[in-house]
Amino acid sequence: MLRNGPDTFGWVTIFLHWTIALLIAGLLVLGYVMTRPDIDPALQFNLFQWHKSLGFTALGLCIIRVLWWLAGKHPAAVAGLSVTERRASFLVHILLLCLTLAVPVTGWALASVSTLDIPSFYFNLVVIPHLPLEKSAVAEALWTTTHAVLAYSLAGLVLMHAGAAFHHHFIRHDAVLVRMLRNRWRDG
Ligand code: HEM
Ligand code: HEM
Repeated sequence: MLRNGPDTFGWVTIFLHWTIALLIAGLLVLGYVMTRPDIDPALQFNLFQWHKSLGFTALGLCIIRVLWWLAGKHPAAVAGLSVTERRASFLVHILLLCLTLAVPVTGWALASVSTLDIPSFYFNLVVIPHLPLEKSAVAEALWTTTHAVLAYSLAGLVLMHAGAAFHHHFIRHDAVLVRMLRNRWRDG
């Protein structure tokens, strides 16, 4: 089934969840590696372009994901979760959705205000226009810091979120992780 059911995630949610998770994990590593001070400048330029192309892809998929999340129904929580656990997981999911939009948008902003004015080539196919923001060294420093802080906060939240999923799977032996891996599952 493509859509979410009363207690299952549909294939669209599952596909978007794991594709975005992979992309974001890759972007976090790439972002960290490409900003090391001792990196070769030619390699750095290429890695920046890859980072921007993959980052725009993540942004597109995250917009689709948020619209899908807003439009569709949400499966009921797995049996056995306390009210506090349900509230905490809901809050973390909302925060994850917000950060997956905010991180690429702040990346786009920092590329747009840079005084170097380097175009963002989307996989060498088209140029993605800059956001209409004023270019200045101060604005660049501000957006760079905002992008880095939000990106590493997202990394921390993802680690917590994945840790919770593994805790449910290996310690509590419930269906929390399994139902994000396949559309049909049996409890217990
Ligand atoms: C979900 C998507 C994204 C993630 C997870 C991400 C993550 C990161 C991380 C971890 C860094 C290194 C920060 C540091 O250590 O200083 C970084 C740097 C950077 N990101 Fe992103 N990024 C994303 C999307 C984007 C997008 C869409 C763009 C531009 C269109 C972008 C442009 C940049 C640039 C130019 C830098 C280098 C900043 C500098 O000069 O230090 N990022 N990103
Ligand atoms: C960048 C990485 C990730 C992001 C942005 C992310 C985001 C989200 C969001 C927004 C939801 C809520 C889904 C919905 O209600 O439609 C969710 C659910 C879930 N995620 Fe992730 N996730 C990431 C990585 C991971 C990883 C690495 C794991 C496990 C190892 C994981 C396991 C799960 C599970 C099991 C659920 C279902 C929870 C439930 O039944 O309510 N996620 N994730």
